[in-house]
Amino acid sequence: MKDLFDRIIKNKGPLGKWASQAEGYFVFPKIEGEISNRMKFQGKDVITWSINDYLGLANHPEIRKVDAEAAANYGSAYPMGARMMSGHTDLHEQLQDELAAFVNKEAAYLLNFGYQGMVSTIDALVTKDDIIVYDVDSHACIIDGVRLHMGKRFTYKHNDIESIEKNLERAKNMAEQTGGGILVISEGVFGMRGEQGILKDIVALKKKYNFRLLVDDAHGFGTLGKTGAGAGEEQGVQDDIDVYFATFAKSMASTGAFIAGDKEVIDYLKYNLRSQMFAKSLQMQLVVGALKRLDMLRTMPELREKLWENVNALQNGLKERGFDIGTTQSCVTPVYLKGSIPEAMALVKDLRENYGIFCSIVVYPVIPKGLILLRMIPTATHTLEDVKDTLDAFSAIRDRLVNGTYKRLSAAVAAAMGE
Ligand SMILES: Cc1ncc(COP(=O)(O)O)c(C=O)c1O
Repeated sequence: MKDLFDRIIKNKGPLGKWASQAEGYFVFPKIEGEISNRMKFQGKDVITWSINDYLGLANHPEIRKVDAEAAANYGSAYPMGARMMSGHTDLHEQLQDELAAFVNKEAAYLLNFGYQGMVSTIDALVTKDDIIVYDVDSHACIIDGVRLHMGKRFTYKHNDIESIEKNLERAKNMAEQTGGGILVISEGVFGMRGEQGILKDIVALKKKYNFRLLVDDAHGFGTLGKTGAGAGEEQGVQDDIDVYFATFAKSMASTGAFIAGDKEVIDYLKYNLRSQMFAKSLQMQLVVGALKRLDMLRTMPELREKLWENVNALQNGLKERGFDIGTTQSCVTPVYLKGSIPEAMALVKDLRENYGIFCSIVVYPVIPKGLILLRMIPTATHTLEDVKDTLDAFSAIRDRLVNGTYKRLSAAVAAAMGE
């Protein structure tokens, strides 16, 4: 019989296998200094394009002050216990009420983490008789939530309305046999490529197929819509989203998350969300910090305006210089280049070492083989000068990619990796 760890020691998994070449630089890099447009990486100044601090709240002086006061007043323990048992407070309730009002829903409930909260929300919403229909490009938290589901599930092609309808038809037939209902799950913004979920088209199918819609709006909350209430507001369908989900990890620059919807649905979830029933309540310092952040989201539209000024300057500049930024409809700015993984590594190294640009790199198996995705997140803290420097750097690295410089530089690495 094998030792359980034999496999783990031999095979570190699709990303882990790159550890010896990548760790500390391409993965698990240590970006130092105060969270901002310019930070330090391995002692060098870099313009950071890989932090989801959309509105620049992470290091805003008013936020830092409130966070520090909350830590001083409450410490990191309070309140102790799960919400249901001993971890419930007025401020948790106040934050929920304010979040619900902000996203135009009757009620909201706090989650300790977005990932776990989403897994648990999906788990709580369905029984084995229900059918889940969801986008094939969904975030891991949706995929893992669906994994817990004991009944049928169907994936549809990414944002493809024909595929959605075909799968709804199958789900409807199935639900008629089981006596269950249908849950459709989409993201408000797909975080890798930046496309919005086609919520308006999905919602239009509600009359024909009787389903409920759950939307993960991690990247839309605070960035999209007239008031910043997200992708549903942007597309004019917020009322048709039955369960709205967002995390505090992006535009709120914190930790925690929430779901919002009709009161009776949230009341049900409150008593059935295992991630909250069997876990300690969200710490008070995070609750107090979230109240302040939400207040700034509501009252400082200039943060969102500055964000979009930077997004537009970056995305238009890239397009004008002939870069392929795909079909993004959000702040997430992908730049697609053709090349191997070793070439991508040489390119990113050049960007960091010689141009002082820090952005995340995404390669196969997350995207198709032969493509390199440089994923950039503009924020309200960036300046137009940052954008200009970055565009110039991108033009230079593209030339070097095309003329084979990175291929030559990475030949030894490629040979060692058997690429
Ligand atoms: C689309 C999406 N959903 C959920 C999450 C998870 O949120 P959290 O970081 O709060 O666990 C993320 C990433 O943070 C995300 O991008």
